[in-house]
Amino acid sequence: MTEKEFIPHPYLKTIQSKGYSWSSPSNIALIKYWGKRPVQIPENPSISFTLDACKTNTSLTLSEKTAKNDLHSFDIFFENEQKDNFKPKIESFFKRIHEYVPYIGDYHFTINTSNTFPHSSGIASSASGMSALAMCLMSFERELNPDMTDEFFMKKASFLARLGSGSASRSIEGELVVWGEHQAIPGSSDLFGIKYPHEVHEVFKSYHDTILLVDKGEKQVSSTMGHQLMHNHPFADKRFDQAYTHVSDLISILKNGDLQGFIELVESEALTLHAMMLTSRPYFVLMKPNTLEIINRIWEFRKETGLHLCFTLDAGSNVHLLYPEHQSTQVYEFIKRDLVAFCQNGHYICDRIGFGAKQLPI
Ligand code: PMV
Repeated sequence: MTEKEFIPHPYLKTIQSKGYSWSSPSNIALIKYWGKRPVQIPENPSISFTLDACKTNTSLTLSEKTAKNDLHSFDIFFENEQKDNFKPKIESFFKRIHEYVPYIGDYHFTINTSNTFPHSSGIASSASGMSALAMCLMSFERELNPDMTDEFFMKKASFLARLGSGSASRSIEGELVVWGEHQAIPGSSDLFGIKYPHEVHEVFKSYHDTILLVDKGEKQVSSTMGHQLMHNHPFADKRFDQAYTHVSDLISILKNGDLQGFIELVESEALTLHAMMLTSRPYFVLMKPNTLEIINRIWEFRKETGLHLCFTLDAGSNVHLLYPEHQSTQVYEFIKRDLVAFCQNGHYICDRIGFGAKQLPI
């Protein structure tokens, strides 16, 4: 599909006022997206687990404006409090998507949003937040164009979410999502995420992700800046090739239930992401001493017990601990005994693989 196919034909229906509400999860990349071209085109394909517990709930109510123009009119509330400091981000999202959802110039929107995870947990809410908003917009578009297929609905929701935040394109569906073109993944696209189309071994269908909150503060370097630093990065081309190869490797790992292969691939991806940060100019470090403490404890415990737990990281210091359901009792005990001490205020979030965005009653 091309971008043009997401530009709608004039609508026959009109709606004066309406509301929609969606809950959309966060996701954790197994193969990382780090580096992009305009507009939000990834330099390499990425694959993620959709999460279940970490979600954004968003409702969107709209009323027809008296003067229709290209100006965007909206109010945004976070946990029922008006948040004008969120406006610039939404405004630039609306500008970016306007061509594909021209009706947004005709309405005033009230956006009400809240997260199921604590506000200052160091967990980025852009993937869940942008995908929830994209789903609300698509619900509205479907009323204007009732002939829309479910397939188009999901693709366009992911397409719009991507324009808000790249990784948000992977939060629409579950349980595994691919974003970015790859020859071995039929239907894959740089424009939107798709449900992982190949066979997945049972062991990966109930994976756990416990997020160990090492530092709940704002990170010093935004992912926007990080992506930018991949331009002229000395290792960029090699990294993009490596991610492409890793996608091919992951296909057989997922099919065969190869837990050892999974551990090696996922940990290597996490450390490579941070290696890109360590070797960019300017360089930066997002891991904290406790991030490394946790990684070392995981390695020691894995060696002692032979259990199949591994870690991944996103662009921050928190550690995502991934493990299969049938080993969860022993891993929980390990977390409580050995890892909690390295979490800020002892906080961690128990999450697991999930199934994507869900519509809520308004
Ligand atoms: O979606 P962004 O622009 O916040 O980038 C996310 C990048 C990583 O979380 C580090 C990796 C990924 O693929 O999710």
